[in-house]
Amino acid sequence: MVSADPHDKDDELVPAQGSTGVKAAGELDGSSYNPMGNPGKEHWKSTYIDAPGFGEQNNIFFAAVEMTRMPMVVTDPRQDDNPIVFVNGAFLDLTGYSEDEVLGRNCRFLQGADTDQDTVAEIRAALAEHKAVAVDILNFKKDGTRFWNGLFIGPVFDREGQLLYFFASQLDITSRRIMQMSTTQAQKMEAIGQLTAGLAHDFNNLLQVAIGNQEIALKSLGNPNLTEKMLAKSQAALQKATKLTQQLLAFARKQRLEPRRVNLNSLVIEFSEILLSTLGERIDLRLDLQPALPACMVDPHQFEVALLNTLINARDAMPKGGTITIGTSILSERKKIEAQRLIGEQYVVICITDEGEGMSRDVVERATEPFFTTKGPGTGLGLAMVHGFVEQSHGRLAIESEVGKGTHVKMLFPVATGENAVAAGNSNGADDDAAAPSGEAGCVMIVDDNPDVREMSSAYLASLGYRTIEADSGEAALDLLKDAPVDLVFSDVIMPGGMNGLQLLDEVRRNYPGVATLAATGYSENLLEKPASAKDLKILPKPFKLNDLAEAVARLLPARRVGNT
Ligand SMILES: Cc1cc2nc3c(=O)[nH]c(=O)nc-3n(C[C@H](O)[C@H](O)[C@H](O)COP(=O)(O)O)c2cc1C
Ligand SMILES: Nc1ncnc2c1ncn2[C@@H]1O[C@H](COP(=O)(O)OP(=O)(O)OP(=O)(O)O)[C@@H](O)[C@H]1O
Ligand SMILES: [Mg+2]
Repeated sequence: MVSADPHDKDDELVPAQGSTGVKAAGELDGSSYNPMGNPGKEHWKSTYIDAPGFGEQNNIFFAAVEMTRMPMVVTDPRQDDNPIVFVNGAFLDLTGYSEDEVLGRNCRFLQGADTDQDTVAEIRAALAEHKAVAVDILNFKKDGTRFWNGLFIGPVFDREGQLLYFFASQLDITSRRIMQMSTTQAQKMEAIGQLTAGLAHDFNNLLQVAIGNQEIALKSLGNPNLTEKMLAKSQAALQKATKLTQQLLAFARKQRLEPRRVNLNSLVIEFSEILLSTLGERIDLRLDLQPALPACMVDPHQFEVALLNTLINARDAMPKGGTITIGTSILSERKKIEAQRLIGEQYVVICITDEGEGMSRDVVERATEPFFTTKGPGTGLGLAMVHGFVEQSHGRLAIESEVGKGTHVKMLFPVATGENAVAAGNSNGADDDAAAPSGEAGCVMIVDDNPDVREMSSAYLASLGYRTIEADSGEAALDLLKDAPVDLVFSDVIMPGGMNGLQLLDEVRRNYPGVATLAATGYSENLLEKPASAKDLKILPKPFKLNDLAEAVARLLPARRVGNT
């Protein structure tokens, strides 16, 4: 019989202290529903029995198991495919099957096409190690109705430690799941509302400054000094707006990243001067860098911004000063990696630790939400950017904090493999010697569906001595190329219509090998679709500074000429 105590007599009640087994001690893996409402220290991770079998079925325990509304199952792992050898009435009520329809079958018949395979794998792994496991899993009743099953499975051993059975309890937690989902939905709507309001507010202010100053500039054309001053102010406001969109793109993980093979220790050391000056004298910055740290594929500039955002938060949490430690380490323990919902083999961890005021659980949960701030002048975009950047770099941001004790902010980045190392080499290779444009610099075709952007680039390049041609789509550009003697095609990546900029430039490269190519985009996702022929394509981040455009064009044109003659 199945019992928690090997010494009990058939019909006697057994005091809980007399039972044997391994207590779960609140350490059970999994995030599943917990019917006890607390971590649970008195239920069993595994249990020992003296003799296998179901011989004695007329005692109080069997009666209880049959009477309880908690569905229960016992399987026999010593038989082929671990079949069910016992189910109670509640299990049959829950699933709608009869006893002879389930005895002898593996419990996986409750699963269906929509059941999460990671959860199934989690169960499989736990059972293979003879360990207890608790999961929420999507199951199906006999009539096809779906239900969320709060499943707990634990092993039962004999005195010699031989595995005899698995015991499981099931619980229909569907209504709780639905409630949880609608709460999450409501929270999402609130976050979106907050985001929209914050965005509109910040943008409005910046637009106000830009428009107001331009208006004054227009009215003061007779006074060039004043005009210049006003235009400079207007430009500063627009640059701030640019920064804001970049932070939002970072949060939305659509920022254009230029990942390179880097060693985070070297970056931290390289940045330490600017970090120190930002943190001020009250902060004691310590480095605890793991030697021989493997390289990662990370955009160094965005990494610096993320590090600064995190350090500024740490500084703000210690108004009276204190110590901030930047530590690096290697994470290769599978369990810990999986606990972060990551799948790579090895990660580099950079951990920023402060001894400041810390955060309550509520604040930790909301800290990465855009525009969430507890500070008077904060914009609430710092950690949103860090989170977006780390996710886009295929890593994870983890925050641990305790009120009054301090905070650890960890960024995990995957270790670079041989493959992406080659990619990094290629993208750097393009940046060779630059040359200033001359009056005879050549002909540039500017392709952009936005007329303002197109005209601005065109006017600027013309002012530098280039001849320019404009096209508003990829198709129009290819048409024009048939007759015009173009030296370089500069195209926006995202354009409405059939052909995007990368496809256009791919065509150009194939059909006009003498023509140089340059792209611009604010997004990075499209880079994934970069055609094989365009691996080394130079891409300007958008919005670009006109100087950067000039530099990129100057670099490409002379190099091309040499190659062609
Ligand atoms: C005692 C016991 C009860 C189980 N109960 C369920 C269950 O209610 N629902 C379910 O989806 N899987 C249940 N399983 C898990 C499946 O039987 C199976 O172990 C899981 O699908 C992973 O193995 P597989 O990849 O071979 O299918 C149970 C397993 C055991 C040992
Ligand atoms: N190291 C930390 N210690 C304590 N609280 C922190 C820490 N880091 C972040 N927080 C909390 O998380 C909130 C959000 O941080 P986030 O960096 O996104 O925005 P912010 O610092 O408020 O504003 P911004 O960075 O845009 O100026 C902070 O307002 C603060 O409450
Ligand atoms: Mg901040």
